[in-house]
Amino acid sequence: MRYLGSKVKALEFIKHTVSKTYGDISGSTVADLFSGTVVVAEMFKSLGAKLITNDYMSFSYALQLAKIKLNKEPCCSINYYDAINKLNNLQGEKGFIYYEYCLEGTKGKEFQRNYFSPENAMRIDAMRKCIGSWKKEGKISSDMFYLLCSDLVNAVTCVSNISGTYGAFLKIDDQRKYKPIKLIPTIFIDNGLNNDCFNKDIFEIIDDVSGDILYLDPPYNSRQYPPYYHILETITDYDNPAIYGLTGRRPYQDKLSPFCMKDKALPALLNIVERARFKNIYISYNTDGIINYHELGDQLKKIADVNYFFMPFRRYKSNSNGNYKGKLKEIIIYAKKRD
Ligand SMILES: C[S@@+](CC[C@H](N)C(=O)[O-])C[C@H]1O[C@@H](n2cnc3c(N)ncnc32)[C@H](O)[C@@H]1O
Repeated sequence: MRYLGSKVKALEFIKHTVSKTYGDISGSTVADLFSGTVVVAEMFKSLGAKLITNDYMSFSYALQLAKIKLNKEPCCSINYYDAINKLNNLQGEKGFIYYEYCLEGTKGKEFQRNYFSPENAMRIDAMRKCIGSWKKEGKISSDMFYLLCSDLVNAVTCVSNISGTYGAFLKIDDQRKYKPIKLIPTIFIDNGLNNDCFNKDIFEIIDDVSGDILYLDPPYNSRQYPPYYHILETITDYDNPAIYGLTGRRPYQDKLSPFCMKDKALPALLNIVERARFKNIYISYNTDGIINYHELGDQLKKIADVNYFFMPFRRYKSNSNGNYKGKLKEIIIYAKKRD
């Protein structure tokens, strides 16, 4: 899944850095508390660690449940693979996604939105409604509910008419829009352990978790995540929010992250590290992030031994000439807390 700040291309770098400094990861307890698409947590899980994950986005919680908490499909009165089959064969139905996020459904309204084909929008509505009814009627557990939401979220990202985020839809259709939506069953990673997943603001959870390794991948620029992934949130929550504007965002004033604010990001991150009940803390950051990484390292040195590790990284956007504006560096700051 395409995601702002995704570490999918940095996995080897992260694995190498942690293995070199910490040692054998298997058998350790690792927390990834800004887990996003959960690719880093998945890597740690497949190396045999016990995982604790968290992110304040609901859709991330669904992904966490599927890939981190569950080691295999949950047992319910509806079998997981039968459920996928049923959902894939549902007739489309007009609902919130159709009426708000496709051209046909928004015709004649103040804003015409072009995120989905009408067929896919109706099928998303039908699938989401069906998953919700199964849950309400007690036919599926909460784990199965989020597992199916995760499969739906992944499928939706494959048919969305966007260039990467839901911050805007494309004016000229991408071919993805015309692919019929299809749920693909999750491939589970089994570490044989009880893994914990949370959907909280990190400040609400940091005192309640402990372990060997804390991996932190906070936002590194001023882009708040909720407006860029609003449709995935709405598909997970399916709560008919009072959306607004051309892109149909859901309100997110209660989810403004201090890690995206220049004057708040450094104290917020220091506060998390100070409170963390983990000795080994790895912070993924960027050399041109809103926190100056030298300043971050200098502050951390008051409570920890600090080392920097760099990975050359291509810039996310090119300038108007199509040239990369320079080299961004993906960095890991390793802070080993002193006792
Ligand atoms: C750089 S992304 C993490 C990317 C992730 N490592 C990946 O590879 O997909 C930062 C994440 O922090 C989350 N986030 C931002 N502020 C947060 C907060 N206060 N509490 C919990 N999560 C937060 C965002 O939702 C986003 O998913």
